[in-house]
Amino acid sequence: MAQPIIEFKNVAMQYGETEVLKSIDLEIEQGKFYTLLGSSGSGKTTILRLMAGFLTPTGGDILFNGERINDVPPERRRINTVFQNYALFPNMNVAENVSFGMALKGKSKTEMKAKVAEMLDLVKLSGYEDREISELSGGQQQRVAIARALANEPEVLLLDEPLSALDYKLRKTMQYELRAIQQRLGITFVFVTHDQEEALAMSDWIFVMNDGKILQNGTPVDIYDEPINHFVAEFIGESNIVPGVMRKDYLVSFAGKDFENVDGGMRPNEPVEVVLRPEDLDLVPIDEGKLVVTIDTESFRGDYYEITAHDDDNNHWQIQATNQAEIGKRYGMYFDPEDIHIMRLNESEAAFDARLEQYDEES
Ligand SMILES: Nc1ncnc2c1ncn2[C@@H]1O[C@H](COP(=O)(O)OP(=O)(O)OP(=O)(O)O)[C@@H](O)[C@H]1O
Ligand SMILES: [Mg+2]
Repeated sequence: MAQPIIEFKNVAMQYGETEVLKSIDLEIEQGKFYTLLGSSGSGKTTILRLMAGFLTPTGGDILFNGERINDVPPERRRINTVFQNYALFPNMNVAENVSFGMALKGKSKTEMKAKVAEMLDLVKLSGYEDREISELSGGQQQRVAIARALANEPEVLLLDEPLSALDYKLRKTMQYELRAIQQRLGITFVFVTHDQEEALAMSDWIFVMNDGKILQNGTPVDIYDEPINHFVAEFIGESNIVPGVMRKDYLVSFAGKDFENVDGGMRPNEPVEVVLRPEDLDLVPIDEGKLVVTIDTESFRGDYYEITAHDDDNNHWQIQATNQAEIGKRYGMYFDPEDIHIMRLNESEAAFDARLEQYDEES
């Protein structure tokens, strides 16, 4: 593997007596789109501030291209930040905002003008050089903030919930555009959000955080399909989570029945949690289903029906169905073996990896 551009080794951060980050290990590689995903207060901004150099860790080391940078000030790091509130200078126009960093570095007027034009083109604001900040919409201000950060030619761009103030439609557009900018420039983005859909849509790699810790990291597909524990499964999308028992490899029992599945490597009769995503469940005639459910509620969601139902074991199910169902009526519920995801109880990610490795060697 290539050397990581940023590395955290056992990084801790304490504010006074309060420890807000506990032993964070992470690696950021050049040229990828990373997302820190977590609820409010989980420590996302703290990690960005440590990366940018606005904070010094109280424990552990931060490396940039292999060199320790714990005490290197922000202006000497090739890292720029787009803040959540944009932090634009209201008394300067667009061009002055974008060239602010270059002016500090004493770049020539011609050089700055060319760079401003290039950056505004990148964020689709060509011709807006002389506009005042107060004459821009929220989305346009957002773009200026991105252009300003990129004008400094950082190796890493940090973005702290940059889209949270935008309406749904603009947010979707900006997600797409940010991703396109990242790919076009080929630099590293570390993006912060508490919106799991946004994280799944944009990232090459996601760190799921809670309470000052990284619970799981991986590609969006890994995290969605193989959540490591109950918290991640709930956080990363709507889930049905029911108690179960692994009878043996590839056979799991839940809701009073045994089902073939694709997981193995657990103790016989080990208690587990079973995850089934609503979009993986279908309603079918009773004799074609794997379980029988009774419909409780139904609501139309545009491209599907959101249905809640319960089985005879009184497990509750959320189902995204393409067809309407009748409340109070019994249906078959169908899913494929590979849609059944198994989570062990109270297992750390390290222990899980070690066990999987051992299992792969044995099989
Ligand atoms: N200067 C500070 N002094 C004391 N505690 C702080 C300080 N800054 C942050 N904290 C605490 O550290 C924890 C993590 O904060 P942080 O800002 O990193 O969270 P976050 O994940 O970015 O949350 P949000 O999604 O709300 O922005 C919180 O419990 C917060 O109250
Ligand atoms: Mg924050």
